[in-house]
Amino acid sequence: MTKIETFELNDGTTLPAIGLGTVNVKGAKGVSSVLSAIDAGYRLIDTSTNYNNEGMVGEAIRRSSVPREELIISSKLPGAAHEYDKAIMMIQESLYRIGIDYFDKYLIHWPLPKQGKYEEAWQALVDAQKFGLIKTIGVSNFLPEHLERIIDKTGVTPATNQSERHPYFNNKEVVKANNELGILTEAWSPFGREINDVLENETIKKIAEKYDKEPAQVIIRWNLQNNVMPIVKSSSLNHQKANLDVFDFELAADDLQQIDNLDKGEAGRVEGQHPNEYEEFD
Ligand SMILES: NC(=O)c1ccc[n+]([C@@H]2O[C@H](COP(=O)([O-])OP(=O)(O)OC[C@H]3O[C@@H](n4cnc5c(N)ncnc54)[C@H](OP(=O)(O)O)[C@@H]3O)[C@@H](O)[C@H]2O)c1
Repeated sequence: MTKIETFELNDGTTLPAIGLGTVNVKGAKGVSSVLSAIDAGYRLIDTSTNYNNEGMVGEAIRRSSVPREELIISSKLPGAAHEYDKAIMMIQESLYRIGIDYFDKYLIHWPLPKQGKYEEAWQALVDAQKFGLIKTIGVSNFLPEHLERIIDKTGVTPATNQSERHPYFNNKEVVKANNELGILTEAWSPFGREINDVLENETIKKIAEKYDKEPAQVIIRWNLQNNVMPIVKSSSLNHQKANLDVFDFELAADDLQQIDNLDKGEAGRVEGQHPNEYEEFD
């Protein structure tokens, strides 16, 4: 099995350098897919209350031969639970749904600045960590201004900030702000989601040929070499294995630059996902 490299967080935690995404991975099929990923070597499983699949994650944990303490279970607080008391209850409820008694990692899913309650949501995560419900606390889709506000308010810096990042939207400002604050960036939709064609991009394909690797592996390397943890979803065992087989090559600086040059700025975002505009619907 491939040995996965690691990242060190600002709270002293060590995480595997690649996480498993689970959007739309549900039910019995989802359990098989997560189990095959664990067999392939994934240890960090990224879920969210909004994905309606925390039950499936719990089932995979129970059926896996890998001990619970070797898995890193990460979920996310939904927007409807940003108020302090609701947030604490949601974290507990989410733990019951999965059937575990602590989260290794837990994030605020979206800042929802129009709702304006993400500061108290962050306070709830800070306290839930003290209560022993969560080991590492972080955020998702937070812009530098949101990070600044929660740090000012609580004095606690998130350990990670999971944000959209793929070759068509490299999210440079957020990555830079995260780095300056010592926050690890996690990249969501590293392949630009099904609607984008980054895996078919000619520049990426050429780079992949040069290293005798696949486009997906090149994108994962581009993230790792920029100190970003990709959260990669794959339901196929072959892809799951390929996406971990990335620790035997290194992209040259000019290849990294060529991928950076594919950035389309705001036009490259997955539609409707600007953190100041995005509204959660459930
Ligand atoms: N925090 C947030 O707001 C947020 C938002 C979006 C996503 N996320 C997280 O990020 C995760 C990843 O994002 P995503 O699910 O949108 O998509 P993604 O990981 O960018 O792309 C998944 C697609 O890529 C394909 N794929 C995977 N490995 C491949 C390979 N080696 N070769 C060719 N195709 C490959 C998959 O197909 P197969 O299944 O056939 O392999 C699937 O169609 C999510 O699952 C979720 O956990 C978080």
